[in-house]
Amino acid sequence: MTSTPAIPRHIAIVMDGNGRWAKARHRPRSFGHNAGRKAVREVVEGCLREGVEALTLFAFSSENWQRPEEEVGALMTLFLRALDKETDELHAQGVRLRFVGDLAAFDAPLRERMQAAMARTGGNVKLHLNVAVNYGGRWDIAQAARQAAAAVARGELQAEAIDEATLAARMCLADLPPLDLFIRTGGECRLSNFLLWQAAYAELHFTDTLWPDFDQACLHRAIEDYGRRDRRYGRTGEQLAATRTQG
Ligand code: FPP
Repeated sequence: MTSTPAIPRHIAIVMDGNGRWAKARHRPRSFGHNAGRKAVREVVEGCLREGVEALTLFAFSSENWQRPEEEVGALMTLFLRALDKETDELHAQGVRLRFVGDLAAFDAPLRERMQAAMARTGGNVKLHLNVAVNYGGRWDIAQAARQAAAAVARGELQAEAIDEATLAARMCLADLPPLDLFIRTGGECRLSNFLLWQAAYAELHFTDTLWPDFDQACLHRAIEDYGRRDRRYGRTGEQLAATRTQG
């Protein structure tokens, strides 16, 4: 018996490896990102099938602006196309689409389309699909601290009363189930500034599979791996066993 429910409620993914996938085919990096879009569709279908409640994808980090202009442009075009093509189907499937990150940096047309897609799907509850764009985990912590400081300035909060719960309530995705499973494709074993606060107790799953090759079977394997973990949250195995017996 394991202390971990078989299905994680909230999964986050660093979708890495598009560039290498394209390089292996002697194609430009944008070709890999395009193929990556199909893998996004695969994991959305997989999460709906497995009964996962929330899926958070790292699509564009605050550091990705440093990539060659041509690649950044290709990614923006891809996001626009994906929004135009996918929103209807996501809405029909009961998916709530949300963009998290500092959206102010994007061009007005893209930002407006993001807002429209969020408004349109805002009432859906089957799957919360969060796409992190111009997002960084440190930015998220800083914006939560800024909100708390503003509440102190307005006299609504005492500085001495600020604790973990104060910040947790102001982090992105605070209204969703806690992050259970953090997946990274493409062989690197690091968090790369994604959901630093939220990943504190997430189970980590690293795979060499490049993102465009990540399909529903890969997702299922990651979920099985998660189901085998013992989540102790700082307690001992004996304490957990006793809790289970009582429960
Ligand atoms: C990392 O691979 C991937 C990205 C920076 C972009 C992710 C974007 C997509 C998967 C496109 C579709 C997304 C949505 C939400 C429609 P990399 O380029 O760093 O690959 P490499 O490590 O092999 O160079």
